[in-house]
Amino acid sequence: MPVKEQEKKNSYTSSIVSKRLPSKSSLRLVVNNDNINQPLYYFSIYNRRYLGNKYKLNEFIKNTIEKECGEFESIADLFAGTGSVASLFQNKHLIVNDILYSNYVCHQTWFGIDKWSESKVKSYIKQYNNISAKSENYMSKNFADTFFSKNNCRKIGFIRNDIEENYKKGLINLREKCILITSLLYAMDKIANTCGHYDAYRRNGELDRELVLGMPSIQISNQKNELYNEDINNLVKVVSADVVYLDPPYNSRQYCDAYHLLENVARWEKPKVFGVAKKMDRTSLKSDYCTISATNAFEDLIHNIKAKYIVLSYNNMAEKGNDRSNAKLSDEDIMRILKAKGIVKVFSQDYKAFSTGKSNIEENAERLFICKCF
Ligand SMILES: C[S@@+](CC[C@H](N)C(=O)[O-])C[C@H]1O[C@@H](n2cnc3c(N)ncnc32)[C@H](O)[C@@H]1O
Repeated sequence: MPVKEQEKKNSYTSSIVSKRLPSKSSLRLVVNNDNINQPLYYFSIYNRRYLGNKYKLNEFIKNTIEKECGEFESIADLFAGTGSVASLFQNKHLIVNDILYSNYVCHQTWFGIDKWSESKVKSYIKQYNNISAKSENYMSKNFADTFFSKNNCRKIGFIRNDIEENYKKGLINLREKCILITSLLYAMDKIANTCGHYDAYRRNGELDRELVLGMPSIQISNQKNELYNEDINNLVKVVSADVVYLDPPYNSRQYCDAYHLLENVARWEKPKVFGVAKKMDRTSLKSDYCTISATNAFEDLIHNIKAKYIVLSYNNMAEKGNDRSNAKLSDEDIMRILKAKGIVKVFSQDYKAFSTGKSNIEENAERLFICKCF
């Protein structure tokens, strides 16, 4: 059964965090109070690098769904990634899911229904932006001078520990914890010594950029929203929506490999890490949609979905790129499986293709399959 992790009991409280006594882990924390009144920058759901994100296709997706699906109350974004497509329908009843916990944490921030204290969160963020963390921790011991400098690793580790401790002590509720982690993850993404994912870091790259946390621009959520961190094939057996939007991974590149470090920081279970890219064990996070099981998984998924409309994003890179970037589902299989479920229309908008290699892929279009279910 999917876990619906919503904290309704947590009350709306506000506290001046900078006034509380230092916890044990804060003892090596130095706060520069001169800067504590500096303004915070705000960031939106799109201010993050994410493979396969739909930022540039938002208008196309929104317009097509609204035109084809008419009036509807609920929409499910079940391979949600950043949640950018769900965010187009902020006033609807949203059902948002991703297999990565780091994405679920961000979804709690953008779409959560629990109350939270803005002044409290701002106060923590300002404090975190003014620390100088001196002691070693899980991050600095394992990741120093790879994706981040040693100093930034100490800061990230310190901040993440502090968030966890404050949550355990009941000083912040689940929503506030998620907002603070989201702020940390987006700030890490801004300065990571990578080309946007964590499969590798740049040798001789720029490591000394400062880690500065911002404040997410959070809109009011529909109180019916449901957020999940489940394998989609299990989840669709127990949820339903008027419109179900699907944006599966297209190729063999696993998201848990690309974002292992953000996942590690979000979970904060401090696992052993291996290899040059310092990855943790990700066995339970692997997706069937990146393997030869993709077609079977997709057939099972569509069969079990309960919706009036199913909307699928899938590009047409099958057999056009190199092995790693080749699509895992063929157009023939997609059409066969969707046609067994309803009446199918396909819409397309040309879109620059993603390729992991140097293959020269031309004429790729991002397609939207809309299936009106029987
Ligand atoms: C193409 S991305 C979605 C991008 C998203 N539409 C956006 O704009 O950010 C696919 C997402 O599916 C998630 N995913 C892969 N396999 C999954 C599964 N079996 N169940 C749930 N989510 C899965 C990945 O973690 C990834 O975030």
